Amino acid sequence: MKVGAIGGTGVYDPTWLDHPQEVEIKTPYGSVTVMEGALAGHEDAVYFLNRHGAGHALPPHRVNYRANLWALRELGVKRVIATAAVGSMNLAMAPGSLVLVDQFLDFTKGRPSTFYEGGAAGVRHTDMTEPYCRESRQRIFESAQALGLSVVLGGVYVATEGPRFESAQEIRAYRLLGGDVVGMTGVPEVVLARELGLCYAAVALVTNFAAGLTGQPLTHEEVLEVMRAQTQQVQTLLKMALARVAEPYACSCPA
Ligand code: HPA
Repeated sequence: MKVGAIGGTGVYDPTWLDHPQEVEIKTPYGSVTVMEGALAGHEDAVYFLNRHGAGHALPPHRVNYRANLWALRELGVKRVIATAAVGSMNLAMAPGSLVLVDQFLDFTKGRPSTFYEGGAAGVRHTDMTEPYCRESRQRIFESAQALGLSVVLGGVYVATEGPRFESAQEIRAYRLLGGDVVGMTGVPEVVLARELGLCYAAVALVTNFAAGLTGQPLTHEEVLEVMRAQTQQVQTLLKMALARVAEPYACSCPA
């Protein structure tokens, strides 16, 4: 089975793939550069897509989410593991931990977030009861545990529009709503994956406590610094977890 990863902030380097080579995929939404490679013990190709484009050129609200997901589907990818840097609103999810989110709250504004725009594409209301693939999440969890990583199974991802960070009061409000972690890219990515019937699981990498929790201002440098320290771990996890999600198992995502 073909599987792929979408790398977020700080997870740009595709050298964890064997024999990486660039492929250019044309989609109705624009063209996308994807790295195609191999992983030991896995006969199908493995793909890696850098969400923010070369050199982190695209801010979260301008990422071409539809083109990215369409390209992976076009390549025959069935299961996707995404990484995303997040701030934590939950004291039990400290910087350095990984959260395998199982729900989201969407506070993005006006991003193209569906393939079903009416007309020829049709009108469709996709079920979002369980947005992330439970089976994939469990396998990623087992991989992270086997690697001795600090990992939490389940959590609520709050998606904000960005590119600014949140106000302290926004974070207080999101906590009241049950949010655990906050990031800027998780939606519409998961929604589009659902629309295409892909299995999609997200590894949220906690880089900081969210605004107002520490009394310190937030900087993108701080986020990058924690990501840099975790890059090796995340790559090792992706390799192990991609091999495991490539195994055959049944879930309701394709339906
Ligand atoms: N807020 C939103 N997005 C983020 C954060 C944050 O605190 N940290 C990393 N990505």
